[in-house]
Amino acid sequence: MSANKHEVLVNLPEGQISLLIDSRVMAPSPYSHFLADNLPNLNGADVADLGTGCGIQAIVALKRGAKRVFLLDSNQAAVDNAFENTVRNGFANQVVSLEAGDQLNPLGRTKVDAIICNPSSLPMPLPDKESSFYYAGPEGRYMIHELLLYTKMHLNEGGQLLLVHTSLANLPKTMEELGYQGLKAKSLAQRMIPLRDFYNKHWIDEIGGRDTGLYSLDKGTPYETLHLLKIEPDLLYRPQSSCLFREDCVIYSRDGRRMTGR
Ligand SMILES: C[S@@+](CC[C@H](N)C(=O)[O-])C[C@H]1O[C@@H](n2cnc3c(N)ncnc32)[C@H](O)[C@@H]1O
Repeated sequence: MSANKHEVLVNLPEGQISLLIDSRVMAPSPYSHFLADNLPNLNGADVADLGTGCGIQAIVALKRGAKRVFLLDSNQAAVDNAFENTVRNGFANQVVSLEAGDQLNPLGRTKVDAIICNPSSLPMPLPDKESSFYYAGPEGRYMIHELLLYTKMHLNEGGQLLLVHTSLANLPKTMEELGYQGLKAKSLAQRMIPLRDFYNKHWIDEIGGRDTGLYSLDKGTPYETLHLLKIEPDLLYRPQSSCLFREDCVIYSRDGRRMTGR
C-alpha cells in the first residue's frame, strides 16, 4: 500500500467493500454513506458518477446492476483514485475514467441513463483545509445549480438524476430551479444528522440558518436533513413564451437604453 493512501472498509447490503483513499481525495462521509445506503437498483444502466471522489458511489452503482459507469471529477487525483478502487473491487471492464473537468463537461456529447451525485454543497465563505472537498460557493449551491442546468442535455429518454441534497444548501431554492429547468423531483430517502464540528455555523446562521430551514433543532442539537432526490424531466413542462413577446419584459441595450417593455 502506498504511503499516501489509507484503507477504508464500507459495509453495504451486498457485502463489505475495501477502498484505498488517496490523501488528496475525500474519504467517505456521512453523506456518502447515506447515498450508498439508499441508491436504488440501476439494472443495465449507463451511469455518470459526478464528483466521484474515491469512487464509492460508482462501485455501489455497479453492485446495484449498472452496466457501465463514467467517473467524473474536477480533481484528477479523485478520478485516478476512483478508477483504482473500481478495479480493486472487480469492475475494471465496466468503468470509463475521463480526464478531470468541471461538472458534466468531460462527458462531451455522451448521454447516460442515470447521473448520480453527492455534490460539494456545504455553505462557507471560503474553503479551508478541512472543508475544501465540500466547498461549492458561499451558499453551497454552485455544483447543484450548474448540474441542474445541464442535466437534461446528458440524460437519455427515461433517464434520472439521483442527487444528495442537504437542507443546508437551500432545498426550496433547488425546487424553484427545477421548475425553471423543466425538471421534477421526488425524495426517495431522508436522514437527519447533527451538524459536524468543522461546519461554519456562524456563517450558516448569517445566510438564513434555522429561520429559513437550513437546519433544525432537536433538544438543543442542530441537525441538517439529507434528501436523496430522484430528478427527472417533467413531461408536462412547457417553456414560458419568450421574453421578447411579453409586454412586461424589459430588455436593455448594451449602452443601458430601455428597448422594450412598459
Ligand atoms: C462531497 S464529495 C463526494 C465524493 C464521493 N462521490 C462520495 O460520495 O464520497 C464531492 C466531489 O465533487 C468534486 N467536485 C467539486 N466540484 C466539482 C466540479 N465543479 N466538477 C466536478 N467535480 C467537482 C470534488 O472534487 C469531490 O470529489
